Amino acid sequence: MNTVLVTGGTGYIGSHTAVELINEGYRVLIADNLSNSEPEVIDGIEKITGVRPGFEQLDICDGPLLKEYMDKNSDIAAIIHFAASKAVGESVEKPLKYYRNNLVSLLNLLEEMQQRSLSNLVFSSSCTVYGQPDKLPVTESAPVKKAGSPYGNTKKIAEDIIEDSIMSNPSLKSISLRYFNPIGAHPSALIGELPRGVPDNLVPFITQTAAGLRSELKVFGDDYNTPDGSCIRDYLHVTDLARAHVVAIKRLLGNRNKKNYEVFNLGTGKGISVLEMIKTFERVNSLKINYTITGRRAGDTEQVWADTTLANNELGWKAESSLEETLVSAWKWEQYYRKNN
Ligand code: NAD
Ligand code: WQD
Repeated sequence: MNTVLVTGGTGYIGSHTAVELINEGYRVLIADNLSNSEPEVIDGIEKITGVRPGFEQLDICDGPLLKEYMDKNSDIAAIIHFAASKAVGESVEKPLKYYRNNLVSLLNLLEEMQQRSLSNLVFSSSCTVYGQPDKLPVTESAPVKKAGSPYGNTKKIAEDIIEDSIMSNPSLKSISLRYFNPIGAHPSALIGELPRGVPDNLVPFITQTAAGLRSELKVFGDDYNTPDGSCIRDYLHVTDLARAHVVAIKRLLGNRNKKNYEVFNLGTGKGISVLEMIKTFERVNSLKINYTITGRRAGDTEQVWADTTLANNELGWKAESSLEETLVSAWKWEQYYRKNN
């Protein structure tokens, strides 16, 4: 049974990935400083899988503590590095916090991996590295553009750091997964997204408006050059996204990677507008969302969706869930969470 370290594993995507890894027979160790998640998430993972993952409250930016942790857990075969700060707006106000947290954590992990000849790293990257692509759907070979935020920059720089490390240390292998927009929750509703404060992202804002926590949803602009004027994104079910991490781990551990550094887009391949999202949510959950159209949000990309051919062909991975199922799962989670907290 291979052991996988999941940094940021009590977070939104990390917790869903821990479930999929356990279901596939991996031993999962989670290291998270709980800066943006709750320890109860571990109970949710255990309820779903029947297995309690190992958990340590640990700041990956703390080099000496990380070293101690790695010494104690010398059987780790691969690492999935989710731990990062991810609020785009906050990153504009506090860029140094973002550069420190997102890059020092990565540097510490890479140094530990190098010292232990540990080879396998899966990294959480983002479609934010493409900015507004010149061609859609966007492929992995599209130019990486200057990011619209310090957060986005940390992902671009992190990918460069990993690639450069591999050039100097050919025993290191890594896969960067560029996520498009993960949404929804585990179908059990025992784990899901837990935004702190007012959500920045569309789907948590929709579900909180439906739950009465927010009086209205603001649609940021209907004057874009898109069919209905609202922005377009590629929304994928978080459980599909989580499965892709298991596939990436198997590829690395099975030495099936074609290059020591590989990059894959993870999306559905379909672009959906904000207004289509609202209408679909209303229809599948038999609800009405109170929304108004307001001005554009600064820094928003007009439209982006993924070309997923590479992930389909190389990883044998495809997003399976429909948008309808995904939006049902998001609402089920919001209701479950409100009832129990
Ligand atoms: P999240 O905030 O829910 O999870 C991140 C977890 O990392 C949290 O539990 C947090 O407590 C932990 N963490 C942060 N800094 C840490 C540190 N220094 N040491 C230990 N733990 C730390 O976020 P998420 O949505 O699950 O995102 C996971 C990863 O995927 C992040 O790297 C994020 O940038 C990336 N990503 C997310 C999205 C998205 O839309 N959610 C899209 C693209 C990429
Ligand atoms: C989606 C669409 C908004 C809220 C962000 C990060 C990006 C990535 C994913 C990590 C946009 C519109 C939203 C609202 C709205 N994360 N919207 N009203 O903008 O694709 O990306 O999360 O790497 O880096 O920037 O996602 O969910 O914030 O917005 O109209 O209250 O919904 O304008 O068009 P986005 P989002």
